[in-house]
Parts: sequence; structure tokens; C-alpha cells
Amino acid sequence: MGKFNRYLITAALPYANGPVHIGHLAGCYLPADIYVRYLRAKKADVKFVCGTDEHGVPITIKAMKENVSPQDVVDKYHKIIGDSFAAMGISFDIFSRTSNQLHHQTSQDFFLKMYKDGLFEERESEQFFDPEKEMFLADRYIIGTCPNCGNDKAYGDQCERCGRTLSPDELINPHSALSNAPLVKKKTKHWYMPLQNYEPWLKEYIIDGHKEWKNNVYGQCKSWLDSGLQSRAMTRDSNWGIKVPLPDAEGKVLYVWFDAPIGYISATKELTEDWASYWCKEDTKLVHFIGKDNIVFHCIIFPAMLKAHGGFVVPDNVPANEFLNIEGEKVSTSRNWAVWVNDYIQDFPDQQDVLRYVLCATAPETKDNDFTWKDFQDRNNNELVAVFGNFINRALVLMHKLCGGKVPPLHEKYMEEADREMLNEFAVAKEKIETSLENYRFREALSEVMEFARKGNQYLQKCEPWILASVLEKLKAGEPNIKHPQYEGKNEEYLQARIDISLHICLQMSANLAIFSEPFLPFTAKRICHLLKVVDRMLEWDNAGSTKLLSVGYTLRAPELLFKKIEDEQVKAQVEKLHAGLKQAMDAAAAAAPAAVEVPVTPAKPEIQYDDFAKLDLRVGTILEAEKVPKADKLLKLLVDIGTEKRTVVSGIAMHFAPEDIVGKQVTLVANLAPRKMRGIESQGMILMAEDNGKLVFVNPSEAVKAGSGVS
Ligand code: 2FM
Ligand code: ZN
Repeated sequence: MGKFNRYLITAALPYANGPVHIGHLAGCYLPADIYVRYLRAKKADVKFVCGTDEHGVPITIKAMKENVSPQDVVDKYHKIIGDSFAAMGISFDIFSRTSNQLHHQTSQDFFLKMYKDGLFEERESEQFFDPEKEMFLADRYIIGTCPNCGNDKAYGDQCERCGRTLSPDELINPHSALSNAPLVKKKTKHWYMPLQNYEPWLKEYIIDGHKEWKNNVYGQCKSWLDSGLQSRAMTRDSNWGIKVPLPDAEGKVLYVWFDAPIGYISATKELTEDWASYWCKEDTKLVHFIGKDNIVFHCIIFPAMLKAHGGFVVPDNVPANEFLNIEGEKVSTSRNWAVWVNDYIQDFPDQQDVLRYVLCATAPETKDNDFTWKDFQDRNNNELVAVFGNFINRALVLMHKLCGGKVPPLHEKYMEEADREMLNEFAVAKEKIETSLENYRFREALSEVMEFARKGNQYLQKCEPWILASVLEKLKAGEPNIKHPQYEGKNEEYLQARIDISLHICLQMSANLAIFSEPFLPFTAKRICHLLKVVDRMLEWDNAGSTKLLSVGYTLRAPELLFKKIEDEQVKAQVEKLHAGLKQAMDAAAAAAPAAVEVPVTPAKPEIQYDDFAKLDLRVGTILEAEKVPKADKLLKLLVDIGTEKRTVVSGIAMHFAPEDIVGKQVTLVANLAPRKMRGIESQGMILMAEDNGKLVFVNPSEAVKAGSGVS
């Protein structure tokens, strides 16, 4: 632990405006929990804090959409989010919320101290004001016509139709989303933090002082610092949030990114009277687990705030993960393209560790990564069931069968090289797992745990105690041993000793697997302890690597399977659920969408001549057959009738259409495209599709025509 005597671990406070999805878990909650569980197992002095972020525009937008008050929104989602984390075994010491009085007080005190120290600049600027509601509007509340695509319901920060980022000044005819009134510009005063003043300190702290931070984090910080920091407003005009504690600040609240990270401090205060030890003593290691979109706030703005206020430690590390995509597409809460944790818990009760395992094994630690239900199934069936669970189960079953249900002895006299090698591996594995965990490389750590289980299976296979047992049985019965000549001439004592040794070692390995796996698979580790009849204290990290965790002669419980297979139907149902959710969200959006105006034109391609176009042989075809391409989530294999012949076409549309729904449909085929092999199937053409905001539709004639009709 070096220079640190206590740890304060935080996980980003999720906005209380919706449930959490598996991307959230993989991004920061699971890695944080793994790290904390490991620290606890090491008996470190550690506090793990989190809570909901209940202020800011995301909350008020949700309230507006659902036609309820912001308080209703945060009350509802604080509970849903907290329950999801608890069910997944995310073991916060406290899960607080920023609407707590203690947090309001703490944030106001923090602001006031900075204010009194003269650390804010007061500035006036012109902002859009709703004269009817008599309030300044956040960018999201300003609606107008998009200068890019003509969508007359574009927001002040973004047009959801063409995706362009906007500022309210760019909107044509800006008006209020709340009252519909045309907006006026009005002067407003805010308190800015001159971040540029902290630049030299930040450079020393991060660029020189924390070169060990992950590349994605360090790189982002460097690029912010290289391009120069500016003053940033730490207050907003709103009636939802923490009031600015100054006499002339009616209608002003603290900027949500000012109050939210202070939430880590308030939560610690709520948790323990000794909170100041964790925040103010230099020998505390403060680590923020976050997603990549939060890097600047946790690495630059919050540390600058802590430094400005004075008296606080600053983060020692900020291990941010990248994003997790789902089935090849970016998670989108508005399109409902997400796997919600509360849904998972309902659909896979008692299988939390499977999700924890898959999310850690595929965590987007260095780059965005993809979650697919097929991979979920494969990792469960081929790794958890076939390697980890199978090893422990075999060890227990064989011990009950061949050693009378008790931990057999280790007969020194009959030990062989392979046994000693295996025993040496215990400490080696511990060391590897530990190093990976200490360096926030959780995927690597988990794969070392699995490697240990894999070695156990190989060792057991090599020792083959079941063969030794059958030879022993024959010997006892006075029958000849013909089938296993390798044991020719061995006596009863030798055979029983070899059985005992191999199972003794496998059982000690199983006990170690409980310790090694606890940070990742806490539910499973507990079940292993139950099977081995050991108390949870065995899980302390000091015990890891020991070859003597279970005493000889100790009776163990009958084996129970730790993991069960996930069937194809379950995977299919989940993929269908994803698509159904997407469709529902798209239908709802379409119903609420404004009347169609000009469709955004995606970037134009260079001009071509008629001859270029004439080279294309476009024909109308009819889909005769459609089926999924095995082991390729996105591909459908189609048989298309183009009049003169039938063509096989492999198309990447499996995420958008069920095969049975498209048989009989007419499509436009590029019939003279050079054939291409995909997954071993020759694709003889390409089908034209139109894309609308992620939704794909076929390009086909407005009325049915004969298959093979030319398109020009
Ligand atoms: O991005 C988010 O979900 C923010 N609510 C995270 C806040 S983290 C911290 F600062 F509280
Ligand atoms: Zn637009």
C-alpha cells in the first residue's frame, strides 16, 4: 500500500433521470466494485461512496417529458438505480443523493469559502429569457428552426433530426419550450471560476505527476491543458438545484458539475464522522471511477476546485473506461437501444455473476467494446460453466466418490513433479492477479483467475484419479489390469495416495479460486465457501496463494452446480427484446415528431457523369428466402428472384429485420456488383437500403412490378 493508509473510492454519481444500463455498469460501477472488494479483502481501510446526481438539466428535461415535477423524477429513479446496484452486488458503503440537505449545505459552504477567498469572477452576459415564464432558459429549453436541416423543433444545444451541435444563437426564430413565447435577450450575472489560473498547478499535478494514468485519461487531460483553459461559469439560472448562497442571487443555482462531485464529500460526511480523515489527510488514496465523458470534470475541474478551496486531497487516479456498445451499435437511451440492469435482474434472477463476468471480461478498458448476447452465452457456457464451474464441481464430486467426502491427505512420499509445479502456481497466480488489480487492469486480472481454473482442469485431467480408482478397484478384486498398463505393478497404497494427492490439490485450488474470484464473482465466491464449509473470513486476501486452506480430514458439502448453461432461446429472446424496445421508441418518436420537413442531406459525394451512373445494373427483385447466417449476428442470407435467375445475397440487415418478415418483399438489387465472399457464402449482389436515423428500410418501387424490372 506504500504511502497510503486509507482509500476513498468513488463511482460517478448517475443522473437520477432513468434506470442504469449495462454500459454504466461496465464503465465504472463494476470496476470500482472489483477494486473495492479487493481492497477490503486486503483489510485496507476503505470507503466506497456513490449516490444519485439529482440536479441539472437532464433531470428537468425528464420531468418535462413525463409531465411530473423534478422531485418526482429523482425520487423514482434514486430507488430504481439503488436497487439495481444492490442486486448486482455493487457494494457501496453509502448510496446517497445530492438532494440531501447535508449536500446542499456542504456545496454552499464550499462555494462560499471560494467566494470569500475572492476566487470567482463575477460577469454579466446576455442570455435568452422567457418573458412569459420570467426565467432564463438552459439551452435545452430553447427551441427553434435548425439552420442545417430546417427542423423547426431543434434544441438550443442540438438538432435531434440532423444531429448537428448547435448554440442557441444559431437557431432561427428561437422560442421557449416551456411557454412557446418568443425569447428576448437579457443580461444575467454569473460566478466564473478562472480555470486558467490553475493551469500551472494542473500541469504539474497531471502532466508531470501522473504519467501512470491510463492513456485515454492522460491524453484527454493533456489535450485540454495544451489548448488552454478558460473561465467557466459555476452558477446557472434555474429554479432546480442548489441555491447560490449570496444575497443578490435570486433564481441562481450552482452549476450541476460544481455540486455533483462535492456529492462525494457530502456522501462521506453522511457515512462517517471521521469523513475528514478520508478527504483531508495526505495519506488517503482518492480514486474516481468514471466513464470517459466525465474525464474533464474529474481530472481538471474538480481537482482545481479542491485545490482552490484548499485542505483536500486530490485524486491519485481516475481510471475512466471507454463506452460499451450493444450488438454493434452505440447505446442510445432515447432510441431505447440498451440492456437495462433492472430488466436483466428480472430475466436472469440469481445470475448476477454471469453479467459481472461478461462485463468485466469485455470491459472497454482501452477502447470502446461490444456486448452481444451471443458472446454473453458463449462466455457463460464455455468459460464459467465449462472451465470454472466444471473444475470445482469435478473436484468435489470426485472427492466425495473417491475420498469419502473428506479432504484427503497429501502423501509427501508419492508426490510428483506435476504436483509440485501445480502447488507453486498458487503463489504465482496470486501475484499476477494482484499486480493486475493494483494497476486497474481488471480484464487481465479476471483472465488470470480463469487461467488458474484452466490449469486446475488440465492438472486433474493429467492425474486422472477416476482411472486410478478403477485400477485400484480391480487390484482389490484380484482382477487383472489390462486397460491401463501405465499403472502396471503399482500397489494399493500408491494408487490411493495418487488419488488423494490430486484431489487434495484440486480442493485447495478451489478454495483459492473462491478468494481470487470474490472481487469479480462475489455471489459465486460465497457459494464456494458454503460448499467447502468455510467461513467468509477465509476470503481474506492474505489467505490467497496458500496451499493449506482446507484441513485434511475436513468434511465438505455435496457439490452443487455453480453455473448453468444459457440456452439459445434465452439469447434469441433478449435480442428480440432489444429490437422490440428500439421499435417501440422509434414509433413513439415518429408519433411525436413534427411534420416532415426537408430530410437532412448527408455529406454529398463528388459529382459523377451519367456514364458513371449507367454502369450500374439495378433491378427489382423479390425476396424468396431469408435466413440468419450462423455465427454472424448482423448477416442475413437472402435468395432473390431477379426474373432471369435467382441470386444469393448476404446482407448486413439482421439487426433490423426478422427473416420471416421480409420474404416476399420487393427490393432493388445492384446486379452487376462483383461477387464477394462473406462468412464463406458468395454474395451475388447488393440490396439498396435507405437509412433514417438508424432505422433501415428497403428501397423498392411504389407498386409491385415484375421481378427483374430494370431501374434507371
Ligand atoms: O455523467 C453523469 O452521469 C454525471 N451525473 C456524473 C456525475 S459524477 C460526479 F461528479 F458526481
Ligand atoms: Zn437539423
